[in-house]
Amino acid sequence: MQVNLRIRRFNPEKDTKAWWGEYTLSDVHPTDTVLDLLNRVKWEIDGTLSLRRSCAHGVCGSDAMRINEVNALACKTLVQRLEKKGDTMTIQIEPILGLRVIKDLIVDMEPFMEHYRAVMPYFINDSPPPADGRERLQSQEDRARFDDTTKCILCACCTTSCPSFWANGKYIGPASIVQAHRFIFDSRDEGAAERLKVVGDTFGVWRCRTIFNCTNACPRDIEVTKAIAEVKGVLATGEI
Ligand code: SF4
Ligand code: F3S
Ligand code: FES
Repeated sequence: MQVNLRIRRFNPEKDTKAWWGEYTLSDVHPTDTVLDLLNRVKWEIDGTLSLRRSCAHGVCGSDAMRINEVNALACKTLVQRLEKKGDTMTIQIEPILGLRVIKDLIVDMEPFMEHYRAVMPYFINDSPPPADGRERLQSQEDRARFDDTTKCILCACCTTSCPSFWANGKYIGPASIVQAHRFIFDSRDEGAAERLKVVGDTFGVWRCRTIFNCTNACPRDIEVTKAIAEVKGVLATGEI
């Protein structure tokens, strides 16, 4: 199969504005991933194409991008899942939105990471551990309450698909709320009050207008909007 790739390019050292690079690849297999195609462009056609990627298996979260105007991981997007018109296929690839483009498909992740750090994404418990030397135990039911939000790989597909984040980058965004949820609902953690202060603030959960783009974009199938609603519920009722 022949595939035309339309890639948003921008090199701040040369370009005054972004432009579309057009690349044609032949012998593409339906089971190739979009990352396979981008690697071919970089390795066979234009070595200056810049993108982040590492694991190639949907684990590291580094290759989030807009593929045919939808946020996804390039390594988890099979060519056969994309819409084909006629004999050839055109795939449009852009950097994720709402973060400054450093070069081509690479964006500045620092504002995203700043929001992540703000929710204190680590276990907080200053009480002494059990005297018998065992770990802090938890029932299966208590563990299940935050099981879904442990799956996050910090790819930013959710936050950068959210219109509230596009409108105001100070909104901490769905990914940070997912991280806060993971600890707020952990029965062993004692940092909920501090985290709730952050997520209940002006640029916290109430900026979420239940648009659901985040849930649709998540490559880990996390129920992001549901997690946000659960955090809103704790703020509204004071009960975890
Ligand atoms: Fe990525 Fe999903 Fe985590 Fe958002 S919640 S950062 S989309 S893995
Ligand atoms: Fe945005 Fe998701 Fe809420 S897309 S508005 S964070 S439901
Ligand atoms: Fe690691 Fe895609 S390269 S998630």
